[in-house]
Amino acid sequence: GSLTGVDLRAEIDRLRKERNAVILAHYYQEPALQDIADFVGDSLDLSRKAQATDADVIAFCGVRFMAETAKILSPDKIVVLPDMAAGCSLEDSCPPEQFAAFRAAHPDHIALTYINCSAEVKGLSDVIVTSSSAEAILAKIPPEQKIIFGPDRNLGGYLARKTGRDLLLWPGVCIVHEAFSETELLKLKAQHPGAPIAAHPECPAVILDHADYVGSTRGILEYAQAMPGDTLIVATEPHIIHQMEKAMPAKRFIGAPGADGNCNCNICPYMALNTMEKLYLALRDLTPRIEIDEDLRLRAKKSLDAMLAMAS
Ligand code: 13P
Ligand code: SF4
Repeated sequence: GSLTGVDLRAEIDRLRKERNAVILAHYYQEPALQDIADFVGDSLDLSRKAQATDADVIAFCGVRFMAETAKILSPDKIVVLPDMAAGCSLEDSCPPEQFAAFRAAHPDHIALTYINCSAEVKGLSDVIVTSSSAEAILAKIPPEQKIIFGPDRNLGGYLARKTGRDLLLWPGVCIVHEAFSETELLKLKAQHPGAPIAAHPECPAVILDHADYVGSTRGILEYAQAMPGDTLIVATEPHIIHQMEKAMPAKRFIGAPGADGNCNCNICPYMALNTMEKLYLALRDLTPRIEIDEDLRLRAKKSLDAMLAMAS
């Protein structure tokens, strides 16, 4: 197209300085985006970075709820998302009107809500959690308090089993983490005896039951540093393996398979919408831009602030 011959890396670098922009990227982004970012992290780290930056522009290489979180926490900054269609199946599985009705049907419950949701659903929630902060936050809520947990029933089920608490679950799932196959995972494990399995808590229980470690993307990276042996089976979106191979070139990382026996079906189709070309255009044109109505922003900010105050 018209961008043929443009040195995208050099142009993105030039525009980042010109715009006083910071580029934040999630571990599920393609390697080129991770490599050009100023900061790569999990959902909690990215929220904290977005809140603390003194840049004028945040270019968010991740999905829309992550860029919205950045805007909610840093309203005076321009926040661009390379592709506005980069949604999330968990967000889609929790329409705000239905969530409001669910809450209304359980007035004695508070809503502890996974950050993978719309700003509207954040506004209907009491405390937001990420996979790396959920356990610490749950431990600070009195045991007698009744809790709705949404939208991820897998993360909610994992937390309920781990902490022994009774959580009323919203039935949402991540299509990416639902796609791992237990049968194929067991075949892979048999081929690599002794290799531990690290899994994201968005995986269903049949996968988590085989995991030696369960945690957020950052947690999985830390486990890869500390694990016994030199081979790890990774049951989360496979682009995280890029960071592992960079940091630990002597170790071997194998993406957990889907039903077809390879890990390509576990690529997040929403994250994959962002590309170097679209990042370049977003920095050049300062669009697509996240805009959030101020009333909604303030409602959503309350539950995010509660998370930031309670996460350790
Ligand atoms: P993390 O907070 O673990 O990075 O998870 C984000 C996400 O979308 C997982 O699918
Ligand atoms: Fe959403 Fe799943 Fe993609 Fe994460 S991996 S952004 S939860 S669809």
